[in-house]
Amino acid sequence: MSAVHKNIVILISGSGSNMAAIVRAAERRHWGDRYGARVAAVISNKAEVGGLGVAREHHIPTAVLDHKGFASREAFDAALMTEIDRHGPALVVLAGFMRILTPGFVQHYEGRLINIHPSLLPAFTGLNTHQRAIDMGCRFAGATVHRVTAELDHGDILDQAVVPVLPGDTAQALAARVLTQEHIMYPRAVEQLLAAG
Ligand code: GRF
Repeated sequence: MSAVHKNIVILISGSGSNMAAIVRAAERRHWGDRYGARVAAVISNKAEVGGLGVAREHHIPTAVLDHKGFASREAFDAALMTEIDRHGPALVVLAGFMRILTPGFVQHYEGRLINIHPSLLPAFTGLNTHQRAIDMGCRFAGATVHRVTAELDHGDILDQAVVPVLPGDTAQALAARVLTQEHIMYPRAVEQLLAAG
């Protein structure tokens, strides 16, 4: 295995299925040998979420940093940065990390910070994307991998996946259809960044 010089840190708040897809891709597609890259840590702002167990099963160091223990958004982000920077990350991957980040945080990781959002941006920034797409009568929905900038769900688009909205779809059914595509797209987008150096 080549020397690891590209650490990936993944931030989650929940089930972490996108994180798991990236971890599996890293193993299956030999990111260590091919890019000198590895998932160095998974950090959650919530204890006991499913994703932490998945990370542990893959022998990836985990940390929990509960935002409720901090007096301000700035204080939480500062502590989070310290935790992330212990791993000297080449890439910080937001995977269902349900926090609005401070401009200072975003600036600190400029060029190294990416997110996946469950809509075809720039449509439907924010929450409840699937229900809003159904309510608007959209024929297609999807997800977007993008660079993170200080403005929520903006930033250069790196990849998109499109799925049909089917007659009678519920938000849950549409979310599941989109998530299947997220699990293909997000690892691919990360790998493309690794390949690009
Ligand atoms: C995904 O739909 C992602 O697009 C959004 O939050 C969800 C996270 O799911 N940002 P998971 O935690 O990766 O399973």
